[in-house]
Amino acid sequence: MSDKIVLAYSGGLDTSVAIKWLKEKYNLDVIALTIDVGNERDFSAIQQKALKVGAVKALVKDAKEAFVNHFVFPALQADALYEGQYPLATALSRPLMAKLLVDVALEEGASAVAHGCTGKGNDQVRFDVGINALAPDLKIIAPAREWGMTREETIAYAQKHDISIPITASSPYSIDENLWGKSIECGVLEDPWVEPPEEVFTWTRSPDKAPDKPQYVEIGFDKGVPVTIDGQELDGVTLIQHLNELAGKHGVGRIDHLENRLVGIKSREIYEAPAALVLLQAHEALQAMTLSKAQLRFKQKVAVEYADLIYNGLWFTLLRQDLAAYVKSSQRFVTGTVRLKLFKGSCSVVGRSSPVSLYSYGLATYDKGDEFDQSASSGFIHIWGLPVRTQAQVQGISSSEEKEG
Ligand code: ARG
Repeated sequence: MSDKIVLAYSGGLDTSVAIKWLKEKYNLDVIALTIDVGNERDFSAIQQKALKVGAVKALVKDAKEAFVNHFVFPALQADALYEGQYPLATALSRPLMAKLLVDVALEEGASAVAHGCTGKGNDQVRFDVGINALAPDLKIIAPAREWGMTREETIAYAQKHDISIPITASSPYSIDENLWGKSIECGVLEDPWVEPPEEVFTWTRSPDKAPDKPQYVEIGFDKGVPVTIDGQELDGVTLIQHLNELAGKHGVGRIDHLENRLVGIKSREIYEAPAALVLLQAHEALQAMTLSKAQLRFKQKVAVEYADLIYNGLWFTLLRQDLAAYVKSSQRFVTGTVRLKLFKGSCSVVGRSSPVSLYSYGLATYDKGDEFDQSASSGFIHIWGLPVRTQAQVQGISSSEEKEG
């Protein structure tokens, strides 16, 4: 009997070829594992294809709920946005896939797992580091990193073995999709000067073709987790799907990012992430109302760290757990509603309210009803400015501009 290997199977060209190649090269029986993280594919067709190409078993796991509740929402609560631009859709799905690969390998008594990543990207790191953390004894094979075939050679290999070539293989773009966003690279996008052609966008309408009337949407949060849209309670998966459609229709969610990969390459990636951008913006607006200034300042630093950890494949680490505990605690009063306006590619926060708001009308108003004791300010300023005055008197203000001025 041959040893078994569990392969993360997408139904695309590389992973289909990998089924054959793993058998030929390593004499391994391949169990294909397809993971549904909201990429809206025909999963039974993918399953059939895996078996036809030679997998001994083809499993499909619906992981949408786990993805949203254990990966996407914690990242949203953390305000994780890599390099200030990328909501980390692909990056967040990889640790979940690593976990499911490991689970299935243990269930099936497989000695190895495989994924279709090449040797140039971040995803190989996320898979390998995650799998190693969870099951250090499992062997990992990454066929596309090993086989050294060009795209043409891979297609020729598929033809030789009677593996049907998906139409997506003729597309010049490399695409990865899940509920949190779509990542698009390759083809003309590799020239950072070229404007992304309209054809790469499938989730968002071009802003100039978006409706001429703005749309308002109200998002309700409970402890930093979005739970309602326009007052209607929705589960996380449905809420995200709904917002992707709504914001996408208004041209909201396009990102053009020249990013720093972990492996040292700068690469240009286009993202579509309508729900992610709307939710991140709404969440920040609610935090501005419900967290203190000091909490907000500190949390911004954590957000950068958290996003880097996710991007760099360090989900299954104790540091990530530590940060997650802090983030969770920081969300205990992030409850309330944010109103946003979607219009021709823009998304703006136009209102926010919370039962635990720190905004006080009485303190802020310039109108009647002002409760702020203005007379106390001069004493405050006297003490606040004390070290400034002392230093200026003793040492002078000696920067060159000040002297010349
Ligand atoms: N650059 C993104 C990341 O590292 C997405 C990677 C996958 N992109 C793709 N077009 N297949 O998370």
